[in-house]
Amino acid sequence: MEVILNSSHKAMAERSVLCWLATADESGQPNVSPKEVFAVADDKHIVVANIASPGSAKNIHINSKVCLSFIDVFAQKGFKVFGVASDVTPEAAEYFRWVEPLRMMAGDRFPIHSVFVVRATAVEPIIAPSYRLYPSETTEASQVQAALRTYGVREVGGNV
Ligand SMILES: Cc1cc2nc3c(=O)[nH]c(=O)nc-3n(C[C@H](O)[C@H](O)[C@H](O)COP(=O)(O)O)c2cc1C
Repeated sequence: MEVILNSSHKAMAERSVLCWLATADESGQPNVSPKEVFAVADDKHIVVANIASPGSAKNIHINSKVCLSFIDVFAQKGFKVFGVASDVTPEAAEYFRWVEPLRMMAGDRFPIHSVFVVRATAVEPIIAPSYRLYPSETTEASQVQAALRTYGVREVGGNV
């Protein structure tokens, strides 16, 4: 069976504070919103907690095609996942399996209404233009330093 999401996608997803879920309605009107409670469940599936996402849920019921993007904002690299989503509710037999990696993240304060299970059909890398435009001077370390300066963030134990 084909592996779509490998260990490097999993690691990059873990470094992404948020993912962005894009859906579309029956007219093709796109909708995008951030999600913080998500996990790469296996080599083909990403699960996203539906805590406060009625618009995404509605669209997924109408049109199951979705796109998710993940970015490590410091390394300025990530990936996008094209896929087909289903909205799995607690009544479904498979619910427990999918919600499992999300429970700890959401905790008791953020009830999960359902789980958007995205079956990945294709993955594409996302990289900041500097990596391609200025390859001789752009490394992951230089991008991290530039991002720390841009966002005014200090590395723990660093001197930026
Ligand atoms: C930082 C951040 C993290 C969020 N994480 C989640 C999440 O994990 N799950 C969720 O359902 N909503 C989450 N939300 C809230 C939704 O993005 C928000 O309610 C949005 O309006 C939902 O849009 P939709 O109904 O079109 O999907 C988050 C919002 C922010 C700002």
